[in-house]
Amino acid sequence: MSKEVIVLPGDGIGPEVISAAARLLNYVGSFEINSLPIGGASIDKYDTPLTDETLQACRTSDAVLLGAVGGQKWETSDPEAPRPEQGLLNLRKGMELFANLRPVRPSPAAYEASPIRKELLEGVDLLVVRELTGGIYFGQKDRIRHTDKTKDTAQDTCEYSWQEIERIAHVAFRAAQQRKHKLTSVDKANVLETSRLWREVVTDVAKNYPDVELNLLLVDNAAMQIVSKPASFDVILTENMFGDILSDESAMLSGSLGMLPSASLGKEDSPGLFEPIHGSAPDIAGKGAANPLATFLSVALMLRYGLDSPSEAEAVETAVSKALDEGLRTKDLGGQATTIEATDKILSYL
Ligand code: IPM
Ligand code: MG
Repeated sequence: MSKEVIVLPGDGIGPEVISAAARLLNYVGSFEINSLPIGGASIDKYDTPLTDETLQACRTSDAVLLGAVGGQKWETSDPEAPRPEQGLLNLRKGMELFANLRPVRPSPAAYEASPIRKELLEGVDLLVVRELTGGIYFGQKDRIRHTDKTKDTAQDTCEYSWQEIERIAHVAFRAAQQRKHKLTSVDKANVLETSRLWREVVTDVAKNYPDVELNLLLVDNAAMQIVSKPASFDVILTENMFGDILSDESAMLSGSLGMLPSASLGKEDSPGLFEPIHGSAPDIAGKGAANPLATFLSVALMLRYGLDSPSEAEAVETAVSKALDEGLRTKDLGGQATTIEATDKILSYL
């Protein structure tokens, strides 16, 4: 029986990169591919960014590939109105995907596309391990409204349990064991109580991994070192919101957000969610200008971690780096290649 992949194209450039990815998937194997709506596309059809049917189908699939969610069309000040991003957050929570892996390995061929100097990029190979189902993203939110809106107040709560930190720490330490045996845990322990708990747990978990060198870094310092000495990092372990921010920053080492894939994993044997981190990019949607490489690299992660096809994963990664070596550049990398041209190129190398 062929494995089932659910594709969730979503909004903005999501449908373009997902249709490119479906071509790639059909090329490398025979998978059953089923497409379902999420985000704004789902709001338009069903008035909710994630239907129970979509969540259920994802939970029982072999792997899920997502394009992007969000866009101006669904932005509103109405607190009751559904938001596209909530679909993604509910999907992460509903599939219990607590571990988000974002590898950053700039290709030497694309060094010039990065705003960071070439000398600093040499040897950069880092992995952001972001906690994905806890923290301020999922804590209690409140807005106290007044007739005079200048009196309004709002609050978001950041909460972590020992167990939530412990399980993501194990994922990060195990990843470090497979890599350069270095782990940097990032927090704001000089200010936040959740960060002090984070440090305590990570230091405790570290005792199980004597072969991994642990460093503890405050998030502001980490943000600085990611641009000043990016090659010094191996695995970066951090909580949900810091991970969101630091992974966009790290993506720029690769020249563009359009290059960075991600894998969101949960319990062993439950399906993962694979997605480019670039978002819906409404300004270029529908123009054929989207860079499909982050999605292709996400397909590679899906083949490896979700579909038990490591050699196909490697073939896709090799094709992407070969295409970059030979000068393939989409607009975000300063070139002219369209989404379809980039896809044709990658397929021609497989
Ligand atoms: C990401 C995105 C999401 C996040 C948004 C779309 C909710 O920025 O995957 O990094 O903040 O997690
Ligand atoms: Mg983000």
